[in-house]
Amino acid sequence: MPTILRHLSDNSFLSRFFSYLESCHSIRALVVDKNGNIDPLDGQDTFEYPEKKVFPVSFHKNIGGIRCSAESIEALQSADPHIQIGIEAVETLVEKDLIMQQTMDEMLHLSDQLHFLFGLAAKLSGIHEIEKYCSLVLEEIAQEISADSAFARMTGDKKTRRLILHKLSPRDVERAEQDSSIQALPENKTAVVNLQDGKSAIVVSINEKDKLSGRLVLLRKAGKRNFSAYDKKFVSIIKNIVCPTMESLSLYSSLQILYLNTVKALAAAIDAKDAYTHGHSYRVARFSLAVARQFHLDSRQLSDLEIAAYMHDLGKIGVPESILGKEGRLSDEEFAEIKKHPLLTNKILEPIDLPDSIVRATLQHHERMDGRGYPFGLKGDQISMFARIIAVADVFDALTSARPYRNAMTVEEALTEMCEGIDTEYDRNVVQALIDALQCYSEDPDLSAVYSELEFSQPDRFNHFLEKLTRIMPDYPGCSIEKPAPVLKTSENLAESR
Ligand SMILES: [Fe+2]
Repeated sequence: MPTILRHLSDNSFLSRFFSYLESCHSIRALVVDKNGNIDPLDGQDTFEYPEKKVFPVSFHKNIGGIRCSAESIEALQSADPHIQIGIEAVETLVEKDLIMQQTMDEMLHLSDQLHFLFGLAAKLSGIHEIEKYCSLVLEEIAQEISADSAFARMTGDKKTRRLILHKLSPRDVERAEQDSSIQALPENKTAVVNLQDGKSAIVVSINEKDKLSGRLVLLRKAGKRNFSAYDKKFVSIIKNIVCPTMESLSLYSSLQILYLNTVKALAAAIDAKDAYTHGHSYRVARFSLAVARQFHLDSRQLSDLEIAAYMHDLGKIGVPESILGKEGRLSDEEFAEIKKHPLLTNKILEPIDLPDSIVRATLQHHERMDGRGYPFGLKGDQISMFARIIAVADVFDALTSARPYRNAMTVEEALTEMCEGIDTEYDRNVVQALIDALQCYSEDPDLSAVYSELEFSQPDRFNHFLEKLTRIMPDYPGCSIEKPAPVLKTSENLAESR
């Protein structure tokens, strides 16, 4: 049973106090628990005189006290005031040690929290997508407090509304939210509750100053110990730290959507200058994203590439419509005007602080792998990856769309022609990625969106055509199709291979 000795970090005062009682008052003092069982100081013998009296030590719980014994009741009575003073001193010491212990525990918790926050901050740095950010926060908090699952329900307006899950299905969330303990909680209340199915839950309200609101719920399976007040406090602290960033990311994501819509509207206005390029920027964006997915670009890169694809011909707004829509061959002077559009795009975008990858993509999308492109004559790797992707998407759409001077090519014809430009005009990996994407178009949301606009020479034999086309391409390291020895790529080869 716990006694005073369990609550004192240093027994030297008790030891001196007991020696004093023995030498000055012939009183033996022993520590006892609430049931009178002796808990001796180190090395102390437990001999007692016949007359005994227990002096309880007052504490927030019963920890027993000190039992004093003497030869006579008179001896105990005469020492009583001295014993009382000693007991008061012991009570003060026990109280101080308790406060010290609580402070130390608090500091250890704070140190744990700081350690956790540093780790979390390092993992979150560079994450700009709110879903990814929230998922990681949920996962980390759940791990830290040994929660089995968690979810964050963001309410607010249409743009900030979302449900983030950690080891839960939407059905599990629905069940938890319907639990009467959670339903009974006021919106802005943070609490630990027990659910009807025996789970323990921490429910933390999210209520940021602008639009972010909702709940963060962490769950522990039935049979495990319930969440503690400390767990609740910990989650509340982390929530207060991460929510402002979540709100900023949410606003950032709304701004991104607004920005992308503006770019799309602008691109549509440029496409509309020429009846033949109607929808061109939209389709180039779709083809670019389908190609980029083959390279496993992350969502941030995909978003930047989409913007670059929409903007790639922005500078055409400065090229006279008479040149853009001219039927027939362009004169050298007219072509020189057309060639200005990447630089014009750059001039338009200059005042906006856009990521470098977007600016370079729009500026370089007419460069060629052999250095014979424009406006700078860059070669191979000097051309940004985005620009190489947009170049392929751009020409694929141009070839498969009707022009004043020719009909739209079929996909087979367009790819055959593009393969002739591999390594001179186009990056072979990008062309192969387009072929790979076309082979599994139904798995790609962007390609599926424009697939029906494409025409095929032999739709039922299209995959067969792609396989043959891939085989005649020279060594391609990332190709998923087994290829025989490289064959010289000419249009004759390609025709034979169909
Ligand atoms: Fe262009």
